[in-house]
Amino acid sequence: MRFGYFDDQQREYVITRPDTPLPWLNYLGNEAYFGIISNTAGGYSFYRDARLRRLTRYRYNNAPRDIGGRYLYLRDSATGEYWSPTWQPTLTALDDYTCRHGIGYTTIQSTYRDVTAQVRYFVPQGSNLEVWQVKVTNHRVKAAELSLFSFVEFCLWDANDDMTNFQRNFSIGEVEIENGVIYHKTEYRERRDHFAYFACSAPLAGFDTSRDEFLGVYRGFDQPLVVEAGESKNSVAHGWAPIGSHHVKLKLAPGETQSINFILGYQENPRDAKFEAPGVINKVTVKPIIAHYLDSANIDAAFETLRQYWDGLLGVLQVSTPDEHTNRMVNIWNAYQCMVTFNMSRSASGYESGIGRGMGFRDSNQDLLGFVHMIPERAKERILDIASTQFENGGAYHQYQPLTKRGNNAVGSNFNDDPLWLVLGVAAYIKESGDWAILDEPVPFDNQPGTEQPLYEHMRRSMQYTLDRLGPHGLPLIGRADWNDCLNLNTFSEEPGESFQTTTNKDGAVAESIFIAGLYGIAAKEMADLEDHFGRGDTAASYRDSAVKMDEVVKEHGWDGAWFMRAYNHFGEKVGSAECAEGQIFIEPQGICIMAGMGLDDGRAAQALDSVRARLATPHGIILQQPAYATYHVELGEISSYPPGYKENAGIFCHTNPWIMIAEAIVGSGNNAHDYYTRINPSAREAISELHRCEPYVYAQMIAGKDAPTHGEAKNSWLTGTAAWNYAAITQWILGIRPTFEGLQIAPVVPTAWSGFTATRKYRGVTYHITVRRAGPGNTVALAVDGTPVEGSIIPLITDRAACQVSVTLN
Ligand code: GLC
Ligand code: GLC
Repeated sequence: MRFGYFDDQQREYVITRPDTPLPWLNYLGNEAYFGIISNTAGGYSFYRDARLRRLTRYRYNNAPRDIGGRYLYLRDSATGEYWSPTWQPTLTALDDYTCRHGIGYTTIQSTYRDVTAQVRYFVPQGSNLEVWQVKVTNHRVKAAELSLFSFVEFCLWDANDDMTNFQRNFSIGEVEIENGVIYHKTEYRERRDHFAYFACSAPLAGFDTSRDEFLGVYRGFDQPLVVEAGESKNSVAHGWAPIGSHHVKLKLAPGETQSINFILGYQENPRDAKFEAPGVINKVTVKPIIAHYLDSANIDAAFETLRQYWDGLLGVLQVSTPDEHTNRMVNIWNAYQCMVTFNMSRSASGYESGIGRGMGFRDSNQDLLGFVHMIPERAKERILDIASTQFENGGAYHQYQPLTKRGNNAVGSNFNDDPLWLVLGVAAYIKESGDWAILDEPVPFDNQPGTEQPLYEHMRRSMQYTLDRLGPHGLPLIGRADWNDCLNLNTFSEEPGESFQTTTNKDGAVAESIFIAGLYGIAAKEMADLEDHFGRGDTAASYRDSAVKMDEVVKEHGWDGAWFMRAYNHFGEKVGSAECAEGQIFIEPQGICIMAGMGLDDGRAAQALDSVRARLATPHGIILQQPAYATYHVELGEISSYPPGYKENAGIFCHTNPWIMIAEAIVGSGNNAHDYYTRINPSAREAISELHRCEPYVYAQMIAGKDAPTHGEAKNSWLTGTAAWNYAAITQWILGIRPTFEGLQIAPVVPTAWSGFTATRKYRGVTYHITVRRAGPGNTVALAVDGTPVEGSIIPLITDRAACQVSVTLN
């Protein structure tokens, strides 16, 4: 069952009823000011950091769900009846309702008793504020007298403190009201140089800033006293819970529409110019901003600028294939999700509370694969930030903090796959941009001034880090975990609540990872290609040799007969082998080892993929391992802590599925690759939204596996490496439009039923208009650029034209 539809022309998902299976979210903001917003206006806003600069309050895991947001109430003066045009929080049965989640904005529109209200929320580029553009229309035959109330609840900035430290918080809240603008200035009197403001374009009938006065102490957001009475109390908050609410009276003739604009913003003042009078905020800098963005013409212009910004980003790659789900994910939603993961990492979503996690070293390097073509300059910045947290021995902090860009000591290091992802990230950046000079950028270790070495040296140490940590079989030691954070082979935790990722009770000299062996293979090939570029044949050869050696070790100790094994545990016992009672086969090494080229020469790759199809594939995607662990295994760690079918314990961990798609493409099966792609493609799953439950326009981290009672149910949407890897799988490997060090490669491995497709790709300053035509069932390509045949599948760099026509024949 569907709860809406895709409007591809507008690049919107249109939700047609408010009671979606879960709140369906969107994101506002692209630069510094951000918000999450649900289809019923729930969510919150923050400046840069969702923990330390949160503007509005949100209560995760609340009942009902998704309470706290950017709320409006309309009240009919004639009857006293009131409702929320965004459905929440009053839950009034609206006569019609649509929510259009667009790229960087959300518009909610509804009609109740012949009054239509539309509100568009977005963050103008270059601003630190959000706009709520409200239009109210009277469709009645008689005039309507209405009251419009706005509502936000301020968070006392540090979202963690906000939820825990009430003995302080209840006494520190402060506001100022001037000319109808509500200023939230908690802690501004002391060390904060920033404040929030909430302004309205219309003359006010009143305002409120005290939550208890507005709602009533024993009432919820669904029945505020002030709205019920139709009159604001002009309350001034002293401590407790400061809010912002404006009251606007509307008189609408039949057919009349009125626009009312609200802006909610964040503003900083220089420390020595904070006050205009003792205790009073200096508003010199903020007043022009408020005046500008309350003006409808300026708002419309800002919205147009936002649209153009996205036209530019999404315009880097547009495709037209026989499959609409492929088209809309590639052209719109998957690219958008990649940009959101760039901005948010794993910080703020419906599942990430904005408090817990820093930026992951491995996550951030992988995210890059999905956004580097849209914003290469920022990818470069990101790479340098990440590399600056690396240790001199090549190891890495598992996470770093976005505000300070420093490594996170609390989570620490020794996730032995981490450093290798840097090599993949940098390689992806150079393949896209051709910016070889990045390798010479001086980058410190652990952010210590004076330790700078060229970025290239960081990559070299990443490789050496792996070789310095080989175990008894000659396979890489796993450390605390590899990509699978929950395969904790040295943890041995018996204490409830202890972190599986940071507890280490074994010295780690035995447990080995076949996944890291595969990842090393991929990274070694990238390093060898880099070396070749600089004409350093000897070093290139030694990387290739080390990859061959790793392959041999995997052949000997990491192959289980019909698939790649997963690991050796602390006792040297096999993990991911037919010999195991549970966890016999894992998805990760099948994908990663084949991507490294392992098993391509001797049939093992094809055999491993057959095993995946037979043992792991379900109609809802490919599960992480089988059979699921039925009980807790102290020697395996967190993976066995999850009930069977969820998360890493045999859930469909979507991040890993594209590795199998890529592997299928590598062995030449476009049918299998695209079939797997479709199984987890959210758009293709739209028709089963009541089962899938998450948003049908973005990937979720996990879909419950076949051992779970809720098989097919998705969780943890938006902030997941799934976005980048699916984007890479479909665009680079299935459609085969792949940046390489030498130029753009076009090597599609698409379903045999496809007669072809077209694409436009902007690459290193040139627009490639690509037409692929199938002449036979295979994957052999014949390329011509502007009519001239090209050898092989890589188009040598074009420097003399701004655009070219590429025709590709598949046979
Ligand atoms: C989460 C983590 C990622 C990890 C994955 C598997 O997505 O962010 O770093 O690789 O889980 O455990
Ligand atoms: C939890 C999650 C896992 C994630 C890890 C690191 O273990 O289950 O997916 O990777 O936390 O934060």
